[in-house]
Amino acid sequence: MVQLTLPKNSKPKQGKTWNKPEAGGNWREFHVYRWSPDDTENPHIDTYFVDMDDCGPMVLDAVIWIKDKIDPTLTFRRSCREGICGSCSMNIDGTNTLACTKGLDEIDGPVKIYPLPHMAVVKDLVPDLNHFYAQHRSIEPWLQTTTPEPAREWKQSKEDREKLDGLYECILCACCSTSCPSYWWNSDRYLGPAALLQAHRWVQDSRDEATGERLDNLEDPFRLYRCHTIMNCAKACPKGLSPAKSIADLKQKMVERKY
Ligand code: SF4
Ligand code: SF4
Ligand code: FES
Repeated sequence: MVQLTLPKNSKPKQGKTWNKPEAGGNWREFHVYRWSPDDTENPHIDTYFVDMDDCGPMVLDAVIWIKDKIDPTLTFRRSCREGICGSCSMNIDGTNTLACTKGLDEIDGPVKIYPLPHMAVVKDLVPDLNHFYAQHRSIEPWLQTTTPEPAREWKQSKEDREKLDGLYECILCACCSTSCPSYWWNSDRYLGPAALLQAHRWVQDSRDEATGERLDNLEDPFRLYRCHTIMNCAKACPKGLSPAKSIADLKQKMVERKY
């Protein structure tokens, strides 16, 4: 029989309240998704209170504060804390974004923090990105050439270099792909906005000589064409990029090469 509800153990329950402060002080409330593969408990939403007089201004500062001061088992990824490495992406206050560049002053009320949606969870706020990275690998994100390598470097005009603006800045944080409904339902076959923006980056590169093969690799009813221009990706990107625009350009190139 078709199961129309989620399995019981997949529904997050209300979890523990860790450090409810006495009256007074400058405390902020946080609701954080917790799940561990090491026990049989349901996912649960734990409540923590952060002393804002002792914490930095960003969501990542608060998550680190919770780990340092209250609960060392809280698990999340982060590295640069500058919006460069892409590792601290989470769903914060209902939006996929980077914890290190999301200001606490941008959020009203309790701060709700979940892992990126529609991905398997490794633990707490850490999603499993293996498939996402494999899709990136599948578009062969490196320079491919057939002409003999120049003695010093592959040169590029200033104008051709500028064609990579809006593409090279992608930090592979996965905020876009995990906000894309087409990717939620077809991520086994649809490459998703992040990998397609990267594919476009190499198609646009004047030094690359594998454009035909790259477009052949996308000529498939799912890999590229499952994008329905819903535009969630552009809205979600914390770097202000537009994967939807890249996808539209790839589709146009597919048409142009036929005529
Ligand atoms: S525009 Fe395409 S890639 Fe972007 S969210 Fe919509 S369906 Fe996904
Ligand atoms: S396009 Fe933007 S949201 Fe998508 S992976 Fe790159 S930086 Fe992240
Ligand atoms: S910690 Fe590197 S992007 Fe946030």
